[in-house]
Amino acid sequence: MGILKDRFKAKADTHAAEIKELLSKNGDKPIGEVKLSQIYQGMRGITGLVSETSLLDAQEGIRFRGYSIPELREKLPKANGGTEPLPEGLFHLLILGELPTAEDVNFVTSVWQRRSHVPNHVFATIDALPLTAHPMTMFVTGVMALQTESNFAKQYAEGISKKDYWSTVFDDTMDLIARLPRIAAYVYRRKYKDNKHIQPDGLLDWAGNLAHMMGFEDEGFKELMRLYMTIHSDHEGGNVSAHTTHLVGSALSDPYLSYAAGMNGLAGPLHGLANQEVIKWIFELQNEIGTKSPTKEQIAAYVKKTLKEGKVVPGYGHAVLRKTDPRFTAQMEFSKKHMPKDPLVQTVWNIYEVVPPILKSLGKIKNPWPNVDAHSGALLVHYGLVEYEFYTVLFAVSRALGVLASLCWDRALNLPLERPKSVTTRSVKLWLEGKDEIWEG
Ligand SMILES: CC(C)(COP(=O)(O)OP(=O)(O)OC[C@H]1O[C@@H](n2cnc3c(N)ncnc32)[C@H](O)[C@@H]1OP(=O)(O)O)[C@@H](O)C(=O)NCCC(=O)NCCS
Repeated sequence: MGILKDRFKAKADTHAAEIKELLSKNGDKPIGEVKLSQIYQGMRGITGLVSETSLLDAQEGIRFRGYSIPELREKLPKANGGTEPLPEGLFHLLILGELPTAEDVNFVTSVWQRRSHVPNHVFATIDALPLTAHPMTMFVTGVMALQTESNFAKQYAEGISKKDYWSTVFDDTMDLIARLPRIAAYVYRRKYKDNKHIQPDGLLDWAGNLAHMMGFEDEGFKELMRLYMTIHSDHEGGNVSAHTTHLVGSALSDPYLSYAAGMNGLAGPLHGLANQEVIKWIFELQNEIGTKSPTKEQIAAYVKKTLKEGKVVPGYGHAVLRKTDPRFTAQMEFSKKHMPKDPLVQTVWNIYEVVPPILKSLGKIKNPWPNVDAHSGALLVHYGLVEYEFYTVLFAVSRALGVLASLCWDRALNLPLERPKSVTTRSVKLWLEGKDEIWEG
């Protein structure tokens, strides 16, 4: 693993020196103003975090280390005979800030292949849960059981210097990412395939092996997994899963604990669980109307009914984005190439035409456009992955690439314990009366 780790350390040292210089000259510059309303509204629009791996532009969407999704689909190395980027390359880009060569990608693939062994007690722990448990509960439980393998936790207990934290966090990151496909596939086969498991194929790439262990050998599905794992990986630092991983990591909880905490956030319906909600919502629509190909008028009526019942239209809206999510567009392009006649995919496209004008007409929704979750389920169903409760687990495997690359940077830059100030409404009232000493923490 030497090469990547050494390159990371060299980059991190240079970057830390740059930040030191930048702060010595500009550390007192105000970066924004916080309005009272913002602290009651989920801290929207407050800049309060550093996350080096990606940046979200409200109009353009996500850029990973400055590269847009269309650029990365073109520039990142592909599997032999494939056309979609290998997620190993995206990880290389996130952690080093440099586009990888094919050789760099092969190196990451081979490290993850070598480190993918999952000890038996992890499977036994998952087996202790009832089959009715949600796949995300099984997955995170598996990750928690795997925490016994944390090098960081062991070395911290033995006593290591602060300046060496990054090294074992880096090792844990590579181990954990390497092992996640095995845990995810185990959960899938246990819950949906009579507990009949498939051994890893030591020659396959990370996403291809995940597809294989789940029981999907179609090359189209493997390509979809490569694209899916690439585009779901990171969405700057303030979203629930990234922020939680960073926050918990700031307490020096090891990468297993930090990632598991973040994924519990991903399991929320306003975050990663929305992809299961989308497909569930479309299946309910099909059932209610009694057709696999509802018309635009039928879709519009169902959308209005959903809103009237006080529910959200899943897959639409975003806390930061104000245009169609480029992750939605990438999946739409994939489906136009591989399955343009699929009725479920066509329904997703019809929903895309129908929903935005309806949401706009309500006047209160800041972003009426689709997010990443609006399309993913239809692609998965096309290849036979119909068990939609499992979808967030795939999201979680992908999200590891971004949140754990960021965690390596957090420790390499020695970022401190995160601890923002909170207030009570009583203290706010006193402050408004001019008794501002109550702000003292
Ligand atoms: C993603 C989401 C949580 C962002 O929330 P937000 O930043 O508060 O969004 P807004 O500021 O636009 O919300 C303003 C209002 O519009 C509503 N709204 C936003 N998106 C909506 C949607 N897709 N359907 C119906 N109503 C929606 C909000 O619930 C809120 O209503 P309220 O004032 O009555 O409470 C929200 O758009 C949502 O719930 N979407 C559906 C779930 C989803 O797809 N999540 C995945 C995100 S990647």
